[in-house]
Amino acid sequence: MAQPPPPAKTVQESVSDGEAVKEGYAYTDGKVATSGEAIHVMEVPVIDLGLLASSPSAAGELFKLRSALALWGCFQAINHGMSGSFLSKVRELMGQFFALPMEEKQKYASPADDMEGYGNDMVLSEQQVLDWNERLLLIISPKDQRKLDVWPRKPESFRERVQEYSVKLQAIVGVVLKAISLSLNLEENCFLDQVGEQGKMYARFNYYPRCPRLDLVYGLKPHADGSTMTIVLPDEEVLGLQFLRGDQWISVSTIPEAVLINIGDIMEIMSNGILKSPMHRVVTNATSDRISVAVFCCPEEENEIGPAEGLINEDTLRLYKKIFYSEYYQLGKRPIEALKI
Ligand code: OGA
Ligand code: NI
Repeated sequence: MAQPPPPAKTVQESVSDGEAVKEGYAYTDGKVATSGEAIHVMEVPVIDLGLLASSPSAAGELFKLRSALALWGCFQAINHGMSGSFLSKVRELMGQFFALPMEEKQKYASPADDMEGYGNDMVLSEQQVLDWNERLLLIISPKDQRKLDVWPRKPESFRERVQEYSVKLQAIVGVVLKAISLSLNLEENCFLDQVGEQGKMYARFNYYPRCPRLDLVYGLKPHADGSTMTIVLPDEEVLGLQFLRGDQWISVSTIPEAVLINIGDIMEIMSNGILKSPMHRVVTNATSDRISVAVFCCPEEENEIGPAEGLINEDTLRLYKKIFYSEYYQLGKRPIEALKI
């Protein structure tokens, strides 16, 4: 008979047990550069989505959007149709979910063969390097693909608010995709047609417990998102999200009523490499827990994705092969690399 797995302990339990960050739980080769490195805090450019959609003022705002994406790969969106009090409510409900007893959260645990549901990096091997977080991953769109058995029933209004949030975000995706197309002098629906009117959206609710050894752990390892774009609702107070600009990590601050939008690999492919899917990471905080929601807006699975034809001509070669989005993640670690022509 197979050996039973070693007892799994969550990162949160390790901390609350007062354990030190042990070798095997942590980067011991100096890869976490948060100690000793002065990290600058900067506010990323603010884009008014209302202006993007209104013709007299769109040109200026489109120019700002294009510059923000070139410099950062991300921007803060305001005037996005969600009130500050609604966003506070979403944050509050998420905080309440993660504060529930482990027993309750485990009711929504992701099954072994699926990412969806509640989970975290289980401590299963000595070599494993953990991300210092707990998370809840849910498909929120299309609606008929939701797996409601892993959707929390507590706090009570969680499901209803997430539903409302997903409807609002869907509208934002439409506005932003049209604006990005226009900012590249493409026909307005060029990207929206590729990814599909409805798209597929995954919400990842993140809880990053405080950690006394910032020099040893990441809340989330450096990565680029495989999405078309990702809409992040950051913690209202606690910083932690950093973007790589050139060779410098910069800690981004956002205004409370804004959501942070970064583009992902699919946008890099569709823009034929003109726009870059930015590397980013989350560092932990020594004294405060941090929460965030990242919603990955992705193409409909059966859609074929490739560089926009309008960007290819005699002087500009096609940089990426076409791919069906359902196959994208099977390409490996940074799938986009495998698509280079
Ligand atoms: C992610 C991500 C940022 C955050 O989940 O891919 O980058 O602030 N999250 O949690
Ligand atoms: Ni990310």
